[in-house]
Amino acid sequence: MSIVVTAATGHLGRLVLEALLAKGVTPSDIVAGGRSIEKLQDFADSGVRVQVIDYDQPETLAAAFAGADRVLFISASEPGRRIPQHKNVIDAAKAANVGLLAYTGILNADTTTMKLASDHLATEAALKASGLPVVLLRHGWYLENYIAQIPGALERGALAGASGGGRISAATRADFAAADVAALLGAKGGEVYEMGGDEGFTMSELAAEISRQTGQQVVFNDLPTEEYRELLANVGVPAPMDEVLADVDRAIRDGELYTGSGDLSRLINRPTTTLADALRAAL
Ligand SMILES: NC(=O)c1ccc[n+]([C@@H]2O[C@H](COP(=O)([O-])OP(=O)(O)OC[C@H]3O[C@@H](n4cnc5c(N)ncnc54)[C@H](OP(=O)(O)O)[C@@H]3O)[C@@H](O)[C@H]2O)c1
Repeated sequence: MSIVVTAATGHLGRLVLEALLAKGVTPSDIVAGGRSIEKLQDFADSGVRVQVIDYDQPETLAAAFAGADRVLFISASEPGRRIPQHKNVIDAAKAANVGLLAYTGILNADTTTMKLASDHLATEAALKASGLPVVLLRHGWYLENYIAQIPGALERGALAGASGGGRISAATRADFAAADVAALLGAKGGEVYEMGGDEGFTMSELAAEISRQTGQQVVFNDLPTEEYRELLANVGVPAPMDEVLADVDRAIRDGELYTGSGDLSRLINRPTTTLADALRAAL
């Protein structure tokens, strides 16, 4: 058995490796890759096979995928560069005739109008065209994205955004990783999972929960999309990311990062970590 995890050097990838080992997968059956593989020394020490996987270097992909039964393909991190990088991954997986290719995409990929989703949509189309057995692991937002906003929110007494009353089906990276592993090990090909936290929350609910747990008043300042883009630009977010991030909030307002599918909790066989519990752990 050979299970390959790409981008294993990142936050999600490391949690995936931990989840695979927790499921009892033999360390030497796992090939963990990324560009900066020195970050994986601890896993190498426990017997995981660690090797360079660089989406810009097809020969590293060919070497990693040779004989692979299952590949967890974690999306690359630079929007705009991802389409050719992801094409390299899919071409190499096809050339190696891997048994199963599971891709971590974006929630509601085939209906969302979010600018940030276009790379994922193009990737899903290329995956389909490859003819390989494919599993789509469509991830909602990481709860950690919101936890990271707490210090600033406490300093200013406010969270800013443009998402109105839109619900966000965020979940922790650890929950996504556990679900990715469950799907990777159990899938036959053709599955599509819309993955998000069970309850979801609005930004006003997030502000209220921060206030409740810290005893400091935090409010949500909901801005028109263009005003929020200007705010992002004024605090140093470069174009076009200011526009892309403001558009994410527009999409949240329109319900595009919400799911009621229950796929994530079904995959991990327990309720997803709540906002309150994740905040408590972080604080
Ligand atoms: N759902 C969300 O809220 C959300 C938020 C942010 C990102 N994402 C997506 O989810 C992915 C995983 O998230 P994360 O938190 O683990 O991100 P992260 O900690 O920033 O890790 C990014 C990973 O992508 C790898 N990578 C980037 N470019 C690569 C390339 N050209 N070739 C090979 N590997 C490459 C990095 O490898 P090296 O470090 O070894 O270079 C690293 O392992 C991200 O890459 C992004 O596509 C989702």
